[in-house]
Amino acid sequence: MNNTALPRQYIELLKKSLVNELYIENEARILHSFRCMLNGLPLNYWNFFNIKKVEDHLLKALQDTKLTGASVALLHFAPDGSSRPAIELRNFTELSHSMIGKRRLENIQFCIETALRDGIKGDLIETGIWRGGACIFMRGILMAYGVTDRVVWAADSFEGVPVPTLKEDADLDISRNVLPVLAVSIDEVKELFVRYGLLDDQVKFLKGWFKDTLHSAPIEQLAVLRLDGDLYESTMDALIPLYGKVAKGGFVIVDDYGSCPPCKLAIEDFRSKHGITDELQLVDAHCVYWRKT
Ligand SMILES: C[S@@+](CC[C@H](N)C(=O)[O-])C[C@H]1O[C@@H](n2cnc3c(N)ncnc32)[C@H](O)[C@@H]1O
Repeated sequence: MNNTALPRQYIELLKKSLVNELYIENEARILHSFRCMLNGLPLNYWNFFNIKKVEDHLLKALQDTKLTGASVALLHFAPDGSSRPAIELRNFTELSHSMIGKRRLENIQFCIETALRDGIKGDLIETGIWRGGACIFMRGILMAYGVTDRVVWAADSFEGVPVPTLKEDADLDISRNVLPVLAVSIDEVKELFVRYGLLDDQVKFLKGWFKDTLHSAPIEQLAVLRLDGDLYESTMDALIPLYGKVAKGGFVIVDDYGSCPPCKLAIEDFRSKHGITDELQLVDAHCVYWRKT
């Protein structure tokens, strides 16, 4: 393997690891066990170990979620044979270190590699990191290419999404009482960075609500700004202090544009207020990005 192939191989492996694809059969085994439990079926040793044969459809569905970050619903079967979704698994047993899927990880990779290649100066930030997977990926890419003069900023409340206060967010209460899975402590996140061997002084944590942390954060310039706070408020609270710091030629990635209407509205309002006409590029059904000209 030559010198340029090794970093790419590492980045591919990192991606698969972050979305829990390497041991995907074990994820299928967990889901299979839940399904047996839900439907009052015995858990059979042969089925458990021959999961590929037994749960071919589930494995294919899981493979798809690894790409897209979508959820899988487990079905509950009634005695009459009818079925209904019983558990939305993405939020019940979300087993990955990032929920964004490989397509969006590839988009992060594209933005960072382009910024490095084109000499676009600045750090990388994600606002809304959950378990930290996307930031671990950013740090891993810097490591792979031997970049030592850029920092990954990881901004989060580490208490989940705020309770909505704005009218634009009125229909989107995903705060910790509603979706506790989104509240991950800073210690848990740091422990995951350690597992990947990527916790060092090129990773900086900004703990607190964006409105309190981002204005005063000692960030000089950004090559990549990744927004993943779901709400109108969280998107605005990140864009207002940080957009001016994105270098010309840098990237703004919006994870929730296609999936959270309040986030889309915040982007539209911000772009129209600031006369931003840089073209929005589609990453997948959820995510868009633009390059600042
Ligand atoms: C959808 S998750 C992020 C997923 C993550 N990017 C990944 O790779 O899996 C949203 C995160 O945003 C954080 N968050 C949302 N609004 C926030 C705000 N206003 N201030 C601080 N954190 C916020 C939540 O705590 C949560 O961790």
